[in-house]
Amino acid sequence: MIKSLDIDAVLASMSLEEKASLCSGNSFWTTQNLDRAGIKSLLLTDGPHGLRKQSDFTGDFPDLHDSVPATCFPSAAGLAATWNREKVYQAAQAIGREAAHEEVAVLLGPGVNMKRSPLCGRNFEYFSEDPFLAGSLGASHVQGVQSNGIGACVKHFAVNNQESNRMVVDVAVSERALREIYLPAFEIIIREANPWMVMCAYNKVNGEFCSQNARLLHEILREEWDYDGVMVTDWGACDDRVKGLVAGQDLEMPSSQGMNDQKIVHAVENKELPVEILDRSVRRFLTFYNRAEDGKKKQGISSAPDLNAHHRIAVETAEESLVLLKNEDQRLPLAPPKENAPVAFIGELARTSRIQGGGSSHIHATRTTSVLEAAQAYTESGQNLIFSPGYRIPETESCPELISEAISAAENASQVVLFAGLTDAEESEGFDRDSLELPAGQRALIRAFADKGITFTLVLTSGAPVTIPSYDHIPSILYTALPGQGGPEAIVRTLFGDNNPSGKLAETFPLRLEDTPCFLHFPGTPERVSYQEDIWIGYRYYDAVDRTPLFPFGHGHSYTEFSYDALEVSAPRFTDRDDETLQVRVRITNTGSVRGKEVVQLYVHYPQTQIRRPVRELKGFEKTAELAPSESATVHFTLSRRDFCRYDEYLGRFVLDPGTVHIEAAASSRDIRCRTELTIETELPQKPLTWNSQVRQLLEHPRTRDWIAPKIPDIIAAYGNYDPHSAEARMMEVQAMEMPVRNVVNHCSHILRKEDLLPFLDES
Ligand code: BGC
Repeated sequence: MIKSLDIDAVLASMSLEEKASLCSGNSFWTTQNLDRAGIKSLLLTDGPHGLRKQSDFTGDFPDLHDSVPATCFPSAAGLAATWNREKVYQAAQAIGREAAHEEVAVLLGPGVNMKRSPLCGRNFEYFSEDPFLAGSLGASHVQGVQSNGIGACVKHFAVNNQESNRMVVDVAVSERALREIYLPAFEIIIREANPWMVMCAYNKVNGEFCSQNARLLHEILREEWDYDGVMVTDWGACDDRVKGLVAGQDLEMPSSQGMNDQKIVHAVENKELPVEILDRSVRRFLTFYNRAEDGKKKQGISSAPDLNAHHRIAVETAEESLVLLKNEDQRLPLAPPKENAPVAFIGELARTSRIQGGGSSHIHATRTTSVLEAAQAYTESGQNLIFSPGYRIPETESCPELISEAISAAENASQVVLFAGLTDAEESEGFDRDSLELPAGQRALIRAFADKGITFTLVLTSGAPVTIPSYDHIPSILYTALPGQGGPEAIVRTLFGDNNPSGKLAETFPLRLEDTPCFLHFPGTPERVSYQEDIWIGYRYYDAVDRTPLFPFGHGHSYTEFSYDALEVSAPRFTDRDDETLQVRVRITNTGSVRGKEVVQLYVHYPQTQIRRPVRELKGFEKTAELAPSESATVHFTLSRRDFCRYDEYLGRFVLDPGTVHIEAAASSRDIRCRTELTIETELPQKPLTWNSQVRQLLEHPRTRDWIAPKIPDIIAAYGNYDPHSAEARMMEVQAMEMPVRNVVNHCSHILRKEDLLPFLDES
């Protein structure tokens, strides 16, 4: 029988050294044990798209290739492309089940950093360029893992958007970009799913390492968001342990061999660190410990997970993640291969399928079927299926003989599928890409096929966007992200029409690297990377500058078609109250001839605003159930105050602007199907009135509006009497309105008297 610790009693019984020892790990993967107090080591292991439990987890080093077999699900880029909370939950629940069986206390994931640049080597492990999508799916992931009585650890908090120099770089980012782009995914997950742990990032943010960044950890995470779980360092992210503790960093991983524990002890003894701060972290650790012990009661550790059932979930999740980027003339699905009509699979990636990314998330999959093997099984021992590799993996340069062989193979087939994509050599944790191009040999193969006039379907496997040579020549493209061990089967079933693709892109595919929002500011130097593009990442940028991408955010076709109509909102007005909500619904009808699911996206569009805002922002999404031809479904959304807000840096809070907004139901960020209007009823957010406030500000402020309005003509006239149509008159009018009110008082006291003004000011 597992008994919960009496936290007060344990804390009261602990020596200073014992308390400090709980603030760091015991081995690379375990927390400290304290037998005297009944505290055993707990095991933390990597995920996030499967369990990566090192076979020997007691050592002091990671071994990326030695972990217990586990089901490999699509990595986050693929999970996000499902746009399906339920599917993400089911996959994460299965991962958690395997982890619980292996007596893991916390799975280190999901990663919810924003995709600032498509070049970030770890983008495959992250969900999206959009914080709402990443936060919503991340919350489902955490809930799924934690439904097993074990913890999830959301990472990497915060603003870890590149691998280059990730352990030292200082990210210079505006408060608005933090609040509107880089933090909300974490905020949503903490609010909706209460993860047991949050892992800080390696990098610095605005001058301070995340592991000791009081602004991020204490003020935002703890005070504003009320987070009371354990804050753990990324592995080796601790710089100044005592400073970290003060900022709210509870657990250093892995251990520093007792060195930092000593520093904590000394700091308390020397009165540099109040013991209450140490107690605060120990208390959080003990609360987590009780949670983990309590979780074990729910786990039923004895029953082994059903790995066949988990493989099925992996296949179904992969099926929902595949994105049909292009399908001219309904080239897909393929006709099944027949004796006189063979199908050619071209490309080494069909035989050496890439199902996941490299680095700490790399897991030992329970099955390793390739696409080619899955197709051979599908076509009864591969009858009428031709294969030719076309290029090598790993490759250094193109191989003309392999290309000629591939051309001959394709010429003997009636349908051709070419498999291309990135490999671990180009895309992994630890380094960023420096180009969007496919490897040279693959580009040469695609160009050679195009030059020969061979028509083919492209299956593209990569954890992040790539550019596609001979794009106009290719009628149909299926994007797989990194689809996990169910991917090969899912790809084959989709190519042959047994699965109708319903995934949509969770990130923009740009036409050129030069078009990307942070092209000039990525990855910076080891000392500093400046996020000068501010809030304008992903579709927010492409929409704002009206630049056409290769494929927009939210894009994805189906083997059927859907119509959207009957978009309705529950009220024409939205008032400024914390608990105000708006119900939205829209009807979706399958107007094509096969069954299918549609991802319905809800955007809020701001037609005119004083402060520049994104053209549109995703604020809701739902995936319909599978609809039969002619069948309809009504999709519902709820919007709340925060969905209409922007962050005001001057006021230091989210604010609502008055005016008209459009609510848009869309098939992608560039395919708006219906729109309705809504009026936001509120006062313009007001800055405090001071001696330096502009005349215009007084005119807009409800407190001073009526008082100053009659004086405005006199104030303008005081600066000169010009022909009202002249440039000088216009200049004086603008100048007068932008003038700090102190100047008006100083120059024209007969119009504005200081003693009349002062009572209106918030500060003088
Ligand atoms: C990664 C984390 C991972 C940890 C443990 C770090 O290098 O950034 O995501 O959980 O190692 O493997």
